[in-house]
Amino acid sequence: MKILAIESSCDETAAAVVEDGRQVISSVVATQLAEHALYGGVVPEIASRRHVENIVPVVEQALNEANLTLDDIDAFAVTYAPGLIGALLVGVNFAKGLAMASKKPLIPVHHLRGHIAANYIAHPTLEPPFLCLTVSGGHSSIIKVSDYTTFETLGSTRDDAAGEAFDKAARAMGLSYPGGISIQNISAEGNDKAFKLPKPRVEGSPLDFSFSGLKTFVINLLHNAEQKGTDISIPDLAASFQRTVVDILCDKLFAAADEINEKRIVCAGGVSANKLLRETLEQRCKKSGRELFIPPLSLCGDNAAMIAAQAYYELTSAGGLDAFNNYLPLNACATLDISKKAY
Ligand code: KG4
Ligand code: ZN
Repeated sequence: MKILAIESSCDETAAAVVEDGRQVISSVVATQLAEHALYGGVVPEIASRRHVENIVPVVEQALNEANLTLDDIDAFAVTYAPGLIGALLVGVNFAKGLAMASKKPLIPVHHLRGHIAANYIAHPTLEPPFLCLTVSGGHSSIIKVSDYTTFETLGSTRDDAAGEAFDKAARAMGLSYPGGISIQNISAEGNDKAFKLPKPRVEGSPLDFSFSGLKTFVINLLHNAEQKGTDISIPDLAASFQRTVVDILCDKLFAAADEINEKRIVCAGGVSANKLLRETLEQRCKKSGRELFIPPLSLCGDNAAMIAAQAYYELTSAGGLDAFNNYLPLNACATLDISKKAY
């Protein structure tokens, strides 16, 4: 079963062909990072325009690199939620056109389900159930994955996502966008114990995250120093910030794993590329006798291979391709809980 998937939920236009959910035949990602970096973050209108320009060459390249034509594809898949609405709509409408023109089914995929499925590509023997820390620019959640299409959110962020916290803190420190990698790089020269930063809690919801207080604390620290004319070591502040975010994520993840007695830990999403997070997860899994699954860096950020992987499991759990022929009413959704379907 060869699925050609399209991903355009944020600032990457991507297409990939994956066989039976696990074998990547081709995967192409056109990133708009450099252009958005000029503005310090993703500009939705620019993202939509670039998707429109990129989508045809990216899909063509994915087919060419796979040495396949549209006739060889069994079904199409597309990210339909969550994400920037104008960006999602480009992928959804293009995928509908492909499906109509080639008279083949179209499988809608939730972006976060896709991030989790990146691990099925990276770890051929991995199967649910497991507990997944899903951390990206738009989401931070602890998700109990009972089977390929059954998800329960045990904890999630009440305000900023982990990646967003990295991006906003980096901006306040004068570091370039995207902030995650900038903070990671400069932290290598810093002392992560130099600043004691707050670890905000959500009253009555111990597994929920809140990062906006931490971000504001960092911004206030920088403003106060500027007003007083004192110097703050950015490497020290970045290292302390990174350490605090990683500790918050891991403390809650392992508390959830204890609560449901889960021995298998998975990590997914753009922030799973963070070196300190990867090392800390490894250490804490080893210490608590748990198995860790995390994608290689190439599958942490947005890509379409992960969407094709999840599409395969959406298909098998729906009993086959016939469930995906009525795709014309499909719409994009800016927000959608991972446990739900809007189609
Ligand atoms: O999953 P992703 O590519 O896009 C979304 O679905 O949001 O995640 C992007 C986020 C950005 O906020 C970026 O700063 C963060 O992932 N990120 C990192 C690292 N690499 C990317 N955060 C921390 N450390 C990194 N090395
Ligand atoms: Zn993503």
